[in-house]
Amino acid sequence: TPNPQDEQKRAVAEAAAQRVEAGSIIGVGSGSTVNYFIDALAKSADPIRAAVAASEASAERLRQHGILVEDANAVDGLALYVDGADEINRHCQMIKGGGGALTREKIIAAMSREFVCIVDESKSVTALGDFPLPVEVIPMARSYVAREIVKLGGRPELRREFTTDNGNVILDVHDLNLGEPIAMERQLNDLAGVVCNGLFALRPADVLLIGTADGVKTAH
Ligand code: A5P
Repeated sequence: TPNPQDEQKRAVAEAAAQRVEAGSIIGVGSGSTVNYFIDALAKSADPIRAAVAASEASAERLRQHGILVEDANAVDGLALYVDGADEINRHCQMIKGGGGALTREKIIAAMSREFVCIVDESKSVTALGDFPLPVEVIPMARSYVAREIVKLGGRPELRREFTTDNGNVILDVHDLNLGEPIAMERQLNDLAGVVCNGLFALRPADVLLIGTADGVKTAH
């Protein structure tokens, strides 16, 4: 029998699938919650036309269900993006990238008119920052960026034996003060060699579906 957290993930995933318009092309994120969403999409009586996927793993799962996967460059924007998060606050600002797909996720979020974030209640926080912030870095800049992040008050840790889908490395940053998420997202982006960071504050989610013991709750 599934545990309560998995049950919450499945419930929010099915709620998100109900928001999908038949015949549309949507953005699909990555992670275990999104896997439930892909499974829910596959069961729907009104299929989508195609999906743009944030990770190779999601693309593979979509194809296994017979859903067409499109290249991001082949579509002119997306109506909807559905993805999970590692942490989300009441402004719908997030930390993402636990699975390492942050850059593709941020690109798809930017391309999408509506971002629906689906989480179990363990991801809903009052303040961002307990979860270490993933920062994707060009391999050559790893040490330089780590030293600059220390100057910003963070404690970067190289994610061992991990390469992103884009051929880069991830620094998981502990102890950063994320009291002003938009400012920190910009500051990290400004460091040479940083490809992307896991703060999604400049472009927060538009709709948040939280799975709870009392069912799915919606926030904006
Ligand atoms: C992937 O890079 C992350 O941004 C995911 O959105 C996040 O890790 C959520 O994953 P789960 O749904 O497995 O918690």
